[in-house]
Amino acid sequence: MSAAWVCSVTDFTTVTGSNKGIGYAIVRGLCKQFPGDVILTARSEENGRESVKKLNEEGLKPLFHQLDITDDASVRRMRDFLQMNYGGLDVLVNNAAIAYKMAAKEPFSKQVEVTMATNFCGTLNVCRVLFPLLRPHARVVHLSSRSGSFTAARCSKALQTRFLDPELSMLKIEQLMNEFVESAKADIHKTNGWHDSAYGTTKIGVTLMTYVQQREFSADSRPDIVVNSCCPGFVVTDLTSQRGTKTIDEGADTPLYLAMLPANTTSPKGQFVCEREIKTML
Ligand SMILES: NC(=O)c1ccc[n+]([C@@H]2O[C@H](COP(=O)([O-])OP(=O)(O)OC[C@H]3O[C@@H](n4cnc5c(N)ncnc54)[C@H](OP(=O)(O)O)[C@@H]3O)[C@@H](O)[C@H]2O)c1
Repeated sequence: MSAAWVCSVTDFTTVTGSNKGIGYAIVRGLCKQFPGDVILTARSEENGRESVKKLNEEGLKPLFHQLDITDDASVRRMRDFLQMNYGGLDVLVNNAAIAYKMAAKEPFSKQVEVTMATNFCGTLNVCRVLFPLLRPHARVVHLSSRSGSFTAARCSKALQTRFLDPELSMLKIEQLMNEFVESAKADIHKTNGWHDSAYGTTKIGVTLMTYVQQREFSADSRPDIVVNSCCPGFVVTDLTSQRGTKTIDEGADTPLYLAMLPANTTSPKGQFVCEREIKTML
């Protein structure tokens, strides 16, 4: 990051769900690259503090704050903490997400409800509560997934047309995600054109929200706020049951690149990015 990027107030960055996996590696990378305070967050205070201790052993000094993205009170406490101690936010990495295992016993409708509440609704709520704190030149990164593209490609043409709507709004995306949840509850999601993937559909929502949010930032009075979503690749973590082709640090490469985009970046901006390259969702 160029020195010109540094704000006059204390720079501040936070990563959701960073006690383990890719989020943990993103915090490690930010501690090395970001010229300000880095906050590791976790829904479990115990797990979060344990992870901070591990990074301390490497000589890195992230701070800790509890954050459960599905708990509005927790998100608001985070906002108040930021407001009081930093007066704003320079980098937000929305990393937290869940995925049911193939062998999970919960009914599909339950899996859809819970996965949507975390991956899409939780992420969107974090954005709604924390975006007012973003300072000029802030960078926002959403961890989405190629699973979103894979799932979108298997949805009906009618749904795909709605995903690609040039007039897409956050309300329309929320309606789409809600339709999926309600269709799954009634067990008619396939008839209604959806693919059988709870996780993949939530990631369609995350990728789509990026496009709308960048449009809004581009009209914002705060200059040069950039949001991108990305796929980290197939990374060995608990989410993949320790399968994959990349280490967590390799998986953190693209999110870190997006978090550290220099001032007045024109591209990537409001895009879906894999291995540092812009991709289309469909
Ligand atoms: N691994 C891959 O191959 C891969 C591929 C594509 C995309 N991604 C995306 O990359 C991101 C990180 O995944 P990962 O593989 O590192 O997964 P992971 O190892 O399972 O880590 C997920 C993190 O999210 C946290 N989390 C879950 N629900 C939360 C909530 N309600 N509030 C706050 N934190 C919560 C978890 O906390 P707990 O420890 O408390 O559960 C954990 O810290 C996710 O968005 C995932 O969809 C991963």
